[in-house]
Amino acid sequence: MDPTGDTTAVAAGRQDTARGAPKGAAVPGAIRVRPGEPLAGELEIGGAKNSVLKLLAATTLAPGRFTLRRVPRIADVATMTELLASFGCRAWFSDRHVVQVEVPERLTPHASYELVSRMRASISVLGPLLARCGEATVALPGGDDFGARPIDMHLSALERLGVDVEVSHGYVQARAPRLKGGEVTLQWPSVGATENVMMAAVAADGRTVIENAAREPEIADLAAFLNRMGAEVLGAGSPTITINGGGPLAPVDHAPIPDRIETAVFLAAVGIAGGEVTLRGAQPGHLRMLCDKLGEMDLRTSTVKGGMWAMAPHRLRAAEIVTLPYPGIATDYQPLLVAMLSLAEGVGLVTENVFANRFRYVGELLRMGADIRVEGRCAIVRGRERLSGAPVRATDIRAGAALVVAGLGAAGETIVRGTHHISRGHDDLVGKLQSLGADVDWVPEG
Ligand code: EPU
Repeated sequence: MDPTGDTTAVAAGRQDTARGAPKGAAVPGAIRVRPGEPLAGELEIGGAKNSVLKLLAATTLAPGRFTLRRVPRIADVATMTELLASFGCRAWFSDRHVVQVEVPERLTPHASYELVSRMRASISVLGPLLARCGEATVALPGGDDFGARPIDMHLSALERLGVDVEVSHGYVQARAPRLKGGEVTLQWPSVGATENVMMAAVAADGRTVIENAAREPEIADLAAFLNRMGAEVLGAGSPTITINGGGPLAPVDHAPIPDRIETAVFLAAVGIAGGEVTLRGAQPGHLRMLCDKLGEMDLRTSTVKGGMWAMAPHRLRAAEIVTLPYPGIATDYQPLLVAMLSLAEGVGLVTENVFANRFRYVGELLRMGADIRVEGRCAIVRGRERLSGAPVRATDIRAGAALVVAGLGAAGETIVRGTHHISRGHDDLVGKLQSLGADVDWVPEG
């Protein structure tokens, strides 16, 4: 509990640190993984990082007190609340997974390079700040480990709403004293561009229609949040979203959807270590294509009351996998699937269609003895009976989690460094794996 309302409780990225986990983001330590017994037990899936971050950004749309529940204790949430604090808001954990945000009448709509460069999702403040203040200055996020990652679609879509955009000196300077509804057709169903337009359009005069909108469950969650605030967002979850803007907005109390990527991490862990687990709070409907594919690979899943059950009775079988925007198999599952295929029987083929450069972590799996050849957007993965534990380094949030679960299928000890990437997006990964009986712990980075 932090009844004082101290924003630093969130902003410092403080995590509850059972079982030797790091005390802060500064000296994270490494994760040691050793193979062990098949996994068994159950755990609770947290709220979706990629929903929570956008919901936090959306709080800037109205003054007053917001409550967000089921919020994961991860560094990206801390960064987003630091960003909110820099606009003049206050945000704090009032309970283990409950965040309160107090939004003032006047905001300073400036997102600094220091914060945006730490987390690309910071760009999602652009739409709501424009809606609330009529102007915003947001640092350009730049590229990352997946490639260039431009924001051209965000900017051209906002221009359709009457926003005057200028990019100079590494910043986007956007002005729209009066937002006007407009027709937006995205060239690709970009998650971030869809969200930015939705959050700007709720304050625009008249109707906005987004064609070729992203359909991810997090988009529907943002729409539910905005509608609860008083907005009128129709069709979220389909390729056409209509927003009737301009109505009054008010603060709300909201619990985001469960994290489908965290769910996938534990499915992959069972696939690799074997065993049987129940994931409470998971939403199988959000992972349908993935579960179909996992079924082909002999990882059984089913819906149970209040969650999801998974069992891997024997070694997985290889499969062909293609990543696509939702409802396709998400790119965020891709490193987990490659880790599973590294240990499956047969030859798997993975085609990455969403990001230009999302196989950079493969070199780390090679260090563990995996047999993977990357050719452009494809990875050919020849499964091995066992990997070989090795020191490896996480290159991004999801690749980091994949290296940890790969270690469950590696003889000897795997030491995963670069765990600050993992802590950005995975709440207590080590503790949760331990609760299933996995031999995983924090060790000094060395
Ligand atoms: N793209 C452009 N121009 C744009 C926007 C996107 O070319 O203006 C391209 C991107 O470079 C990429 C593709 O379009 O090749 C898809 O990008 P999208 O905008 O859909 O992704 P995002 O909003 O930047 C979110 C998630 C990612 C997830 C992707 C795809 C958040 C904070 N991030 O990113 O999650 O991989 O959607 O589903 O919601 C993660 O959580 O680790 C993560 C990377």
